[in-house]
Amino acid sequence: MKKRVAVLAGDGIGKEVTNAAMAVLDAVGRRFQHEFEWVHGLLGGDALDQAGHPIPEETVKKCEESDAILLGAIGGPKWDHYPKELRPEKGLLQLRKHFELSVNLRPVQAYKTLLASSPLKEEVAEGVDLVFVRELTGGLYFGEPSYHNDEEAVDTLHYKREEIERVVRFAFEMAKQRRKKVSSVDKANVLESSRLWREVVEEVAADFPDVEYEHMLVDSTAMKLITSPASFDVIVTENMFGDILSDEASVICGSLGMLPSASLRADGFGLYEPVHGSAPDIAGQNIANPLGAILSGAMMLRTAFGMSKEANAVEAAVRTVLEEGYSTAEFKGIGGTVLSTTELTEKVVDHIENEQVSD
Ligand code: NAD
Ligand code: IPM
Ligand code: MN
Repeated sequence: MKKRVAVLAGDGIGKEVTNAAMAVLDAVGRRFQHEFEWVHGLLGGDALDQAGHPIPEETVKKCEESDAILLGAIGGPKWDHYPKELRPEKGLLQLRKHFELSVNLRPVQAYKTLLASSPLKEEVAEGVDLVFVRELTGGLYFGEPSYHNDEEAVDTLHYKREEIERVVRFAFEMAKQRRKKVSSVDKANVLESSRLWREVVEEVAADFPDVEYEHMLVDSTAMKLITSPASFDVIVTENMFGDILSDEASVICGSLGMLPSASLRADGFGLYEPVHGSAPDIAGQNIANPLGAILSGAMMLRTAFGMSKEANAVEAAVRTVLEEGYSTAEFKGIGGTVLSTTELTEKVVDHIENEQVSD
């Protein structure tokens, strides 16, 4: 199969980790006779520097003409003083809005060899296999009015019923294929938007009698993610809660650099990116963990292109490399061998080229 992928590497470690993901998908192409055409586009600070806008029209066009989008990360201190419409983050938000990427999947898995580096006790983190279903195009990120002046500041938390229903239904469908449990996270003891959220969850749940569900408040969920993360299967929540809780959950598997994501439109078109940001503190050193980006590539193979055995091969290669004791510098106290970004990527590539895989 031939597929065209728009690659928006962005800023900081974005370039390093998208290079890693492309190298792995190219290996998949060689092994399984596919061809990936990489179409590079500017986004974020890089786009500001080169084209004067965080998301140039040409980038949008390249994405529209592609079968999927692979993104690295955007942002950094260099652009933090830019006016809000020109911030790198605005480029990413506009991209999500333009393509109506309303459902953001963020799976979190505990890998055995990395458990020792998690601040959680091994027996707490062990066996965690959960997925966040985060609403991505509504809520505080997009509500109007939104402004600040010297005297006051306003952000608006707005949700329409249909925006909630779309993402909640997706979560229940997903739970049906998994361990049949949905935890819906809100702040219904305070927020009106959360009270509507709960009503919608009740209605949708009625269509899924075999899926168990619970309503949880976001504050105690933050606690439970640390005390009993293995109790979660599918967690569905609004935009900002999902942003915060997913970074929190990354400590379960020992590093933010491990988490992949997929942001999907109703027809299945999607953007694939690691959950982490541009990590200015480690950018340019070839030490960033590329596995979140590589696993985002696996999600792209499965979800965008229907290439399940290819996605399985990538995930198996990542597991094998970790089991062999390889990791990157941010994992402390796990023994094994610390590799650079490019060396770890090479290990994954070797396994894809040489290992047997099942469907
Ligand atoms: P960050 O995710 O960039 O980094 C947080 C911490 O995690 C840092 O210590 C960093 O070194 C570490 N880290 C992140 N990814 C890693 C990886 N792959 N390997 C090893 N360590 C990794 O968050 P931040 O520092 O709060 O934000 C930096 C910039 O990134 C900001 O401008 C922010 O707006 C932007 N950001 C962008 C995205 C995105 O593009 N989707 C996501 C989050 C933050
Ligand atoms: C993420 C990021 C973005 C978000 C920022 C950079 C706009 O933190 O993808 O998680 O808050 O959604
Ligand atoms: Mn985030």
